[in-house]
Amino acid sequence: MAKSDKKSGEGAGPHHVAIIMDGNGRWAQARGRPRLFGHHAGAKRVREIVEACPDLGVKYLTIFAFSTENWKRTQLEVAGLMSLFRRYITKEARDLFARGVRVRFIGDRVRLDKKLVKLMDELEVMTEKNDRVHLTIALNYGGRDEVARATKRLAQDVASGLLDPEKVDEETLPRYLDTYVLPDPDLVIRTSGEARISNFLLWQSAYAEYEFIDTLWPDFSRDVFARLVAKFGAKDRRYGGAVDEIVI
Ligand code: FPP
Repeated sequence: MAKSDKKSGEGAGPHHVAIIMDGNGRWAQARGRPRLFGHHAGAKRVREIVEACPDLGVKYLTIFAFSTENWKRTQLEVAGLMSLFRRYITKEARDLFARGVRVRFIGDRVRLDKKLVKLMDELEVMTEKNDRVHLTIALNYGGRDEVARATKRLAQDVASGLLDPEKVDEETLPRYLDTYVLPDPDLVIRTSGEARISNFLLWQSAYAEYEFIDTLWPDFSRDVFARLVAKFGAKDRRYGGAVDEIVI
């Protein structure tokens, strides 16, 4: 095949984008304001980016809101973030529903406040028939924790005879992950200049493209998002396959 021939997926935008929203604290500090001011500004950006998805052809958006490591922050910041999540869900629920957004949460809910978990459950049920954009919010999420929890359930199924260990292959574990209904991300973006994946979607991002950009999350606009989506569309993804030979 000539190299100029398009392969499936080449030139197409990312179907699933995952974002590590970093830099809220530095954004606030640069303005002489408390870190929570940055998180509130970050929450406003979430709305703008969700709204941009249908126009950009992004069907799935997964955002990292709180990691299993974030509990190490000060009690003030953790409490402020939890209160922000409760307020975000309460305030945005009707609007998300009206705009056809299906909301899901991934992560371990056991350590989360019961009131917050109730709001999360209600929002998932309220939006379960929506299909315009699939927004997944990672809350108390860690990739290793997710794999450990999945492995525990898989082992329980083996122990109870529901699963034959001889049949376990790389299709089996994803069925036990929090993301079992989601496609793998095509593009993972991290803002704020840090080039780390910080335990986000470790299994799922095996073939994702990564973009590490300097913009702090509260400055991440629809235009920046559109530029990264377009850049992805220009790439040729081979999933480990060979480069096509050029036919002369
Ligand atoms: C990382 O920035 C950001 C977080 C730990 C929280 C992300 C949360 C939001 C964007 C709030 C809104 C989310 C929803 C779903 C309503 P950082 O504080 O680590 O920034 P820094 O590296 O500059 O300190």
